[in-house]
Amino acid sequence: MQSHLIYHYTSLRHRKLWQPFILNLEKTLLRNIASSNKLIIFGGSACACITNKFLDQFHEIIIYDKDPMAPVLFRAFHGLKYKPKYFIEDVFSFDGIRLDSKRTQNILDLHNPDQVIFANVIGQLPIYYKNFFKTQNYVAWSEDLSRVLQARRVASFHDLVSFKKKDVLNKMPDQIIIDPKDNITTLADKYTFPQTIFDHLVLEQKWPRPSIALKWELTPSSIHYVEVCFYK
Ligand SMILES: C[S@@+](CC[C@H](N)C(=O)[O-])C[C@H]1O[C@@H](n2cnc3c(N)ncnc32)[C@H](O)[C@@H]1O
Repeated sequence: MQSHLIYHYTSLRHRKLWQPFILNLEKTLLRNIASSNKLIIFGGSACACITNKFLDQFHEIIIYDKDPMAPVLFRAFHGLKYKPKYFIEDVFSFDGIRLDSKRTQNILDLHNPDQVIFANVIGQLPIYYKNFFKTQNYVAWSEDLSRVLQARRVASFHDLVSFKKKDVLNKMPDQIIIDPKDNITTLADKYTFPQTIFDHLVLEQKWPRPSIALKWELTPSSIHYVEVCFYK
């Protein structure tokens, strides 16, 4: 099954399990983001993790996602109240070797939004652009992206680590703090992470920190920690 279909299936099947994460994310976003005119969401898909209470803060909502099913599923989650403008497009430029921020910059220049959200997309990039992430150029790319984003109001929530729930010996906290110097080893030491860990390779990237990461029980057998970062 294609990855977006698996994601949609999981979001519907495990809606109840996701609820504590969704509410913690809502609280964190509302605490840090003021209501404004135009919101652009990158990787928004059906916005399964974003609540109506949060969307209510904006007059105009623009969503970019590669997934053609996203607009239909958005209605299933959020009803007909909102009329987001969907662009079924890539947010990043990738020529098979290099990933750069030109396209992201062009999209931002085109719409000039008051608020930008990368909605659980940055942590997926090592899966979509495997070869690029093998070269470790992602640190330089994230510096370049940082330059593009810095003058704007931007939030990103993204997968940091994932692991099998059955491996978790101690009860994992709902929220952890990410310091600028943290890496996968320091986090594993501080929070007694289990051995089988999937690293989404965002810790070395240049996201604003300190930040927090929220626990997300994705399925009955897997847990993610999702980092939430804010520019401005
Ligand atoms: C894990 S899903 C997040 C879904 C949604 N934000 C939510 O809160 O439930 C990641 C989404 O990012 C989208 N995506 C991945 N790479 C993308 C890219 N380069 N440009 C646009 N969308 C992308 C995928 O299609 C997918 O819908």
